[in-house]
Amino acid sequence: MSSDKSFAKLPGFRDFVPADLALRTRIFDAWRRVCGRYGFMEYDGPPLEPLGLYVEKSGPEIVKQLYTFADKGGREVALRPEMTPTLARILAERSRGMAKPIRWFSIPQLFRYERSQRGRLREHFQLNADIVGEAGIGADAEVAAVAIDGVRALGLGEEDFVARVNDRRLVNAVLDELGVAEGRRAACLAVIDKAGRAGPAKTRAGLEALRIGDAATGALSDLVADGSWERLRDRFRSSHAVLAAMQPLAEHREILEAMGLGGYLRFDFTVVRGLAYYTGIVFELFDRAGEMRAICGGGRYDRLLELVGGEPLPAVGFGMGDVVLGELLRDRGIAPGAGAQCDDYVIWVEPEQRSLGMHLARGLRREGRAVLYGLKTLGVGKQLRGANRLGAARVLIIGPDEAASGTVTVRCLASGRQETTTLKALLGGRGSEAGANPAERRSTVPGSTEVGGR
Ligand code: HAM
Repeated sequence: MSSDKSFAKLPGFRDFVPADLALRTRIFDAWRRVCGRYGFMEYDGPPLEPLGLYVEKSGPEIVKQLYTFADKGGREVALRPEMTPTLARILAERSRGMAKPIRWFSIPQLFRYERSQRGRLREHFQLNADIVGEAGIGADAEVAAVAIDGVRALGLGEEDFVARVNDRRLVNAVLDELGVAEGRRAACLAVIDKAGRAGPAKTRAGLEALRIGDAATGALSDLVADGSWERLRDRFRSSHAVLAAMQPLAEHREILEAMGLGGYLRFDFTVVRGLAYYTGIVFELFDRAGEMRAICGGGRYDRLLELVGGEPLPAVGFGMGDVVLGELLRDRGIAPGAGAQCDDYVIWVEPEQRSLGMHLARGLRREGRAVLYGLKTLGVGKQLRGANRLGAARVLIIGPDEAASGTVTVRCLASGRQETTTLKALLGGRGSEAGANPAERRSTVPGSTEVGGR
């Protein structure tokens, strides 16, 4: 059949062949494990939502990227580009009467019509972990810890990634101090948000275009170029408002340091987050080399639930994508391989022993072992090659002699050791060869050691 270009995969969408799915599963498993350790419960929502849920609430950046259309009932709908509005909608309907704080997580597939590039696609999966109903700084620190541990559980550490932290209230206090009018602040935040990628010259030009005055433009350009904690404190040492707005971040750091995660934190004045709804501490996780897009982004959004019609509830959380994380794991050589599990490979010497082989395979599968065999009649040599190719731990051979005596020849492929045992003993799960226990064998597969245990 000739290939028809119209059937090509859409740009920015992925196929998940087994190696890719193995990586995705590894990431999801680590995320679920970590969320479980912090007492989060999993939820989900519909992939299609009313368009209105995103307009205004998420901000213009994301609205430009929506996959949107009118359904057959004439409703304006959108594929979800992020999970936070869905969470807010679900809780707006149900949070009354629920014990607070609510700790929920989800791993939705999201859709954004972005320019596809390394680390950014038109669909991705995103871990969302949010705490709703707690205004205290402990909740901010808790979600940041979940995010950091969510990456650590995959085998990455302090040398691999960093959490850049800031506070929108602090940026607003600085803008206030610099005399930037209320009406120009959102545009200012948008320029600061893009500063990392735009570079100093473009950032300055962007600020100049906002006509916030030379002094404010100069001060902000300086802060964007070098916005260290000390520099900020020195520059605004006489501003009570700015110094007070630095306090929550100091406490946030203190809590994360007590958890042993302080080494991951770096204050960064340019992290303000592109989404409209954030109101307090915000953070983003980046690879240490700074070569990739953000691994994760989140922060406090205390007014969103009210905006979608719910009770006014403070909330804080983050979204962590699978794309950049997957690339980092591949780059570090710690992505899992795609090999199928094969504990036992059953070989029958002649077609007459096939039924016995099937009986053996069935019994072993019932015990939870992964069992394979040739699907057509093959010589013993070819069957052995098949077992080797699949990386089988054991080969179980049944020939006419074994069939007559109710035995099986068991060969451990790694050691080459071979012995004869009874069919009954094998099916009783008492195989004596090394590697007979599938759990034991799995733990020796390279890369499968418990990176999640860190
Ligand atoms: P976000 O910064 O838009 O935040 O996305 C969070 C993370 O999702 C990013 O850091 C990135 O890893 C991943 N991501 C976003 N867009 C793409 C894309 N086109 N391709 C691949 N990965 C992508 C939010 O979505 C917020 N709703 C997060 C949140 C939850 N805030 C509070 N709770």
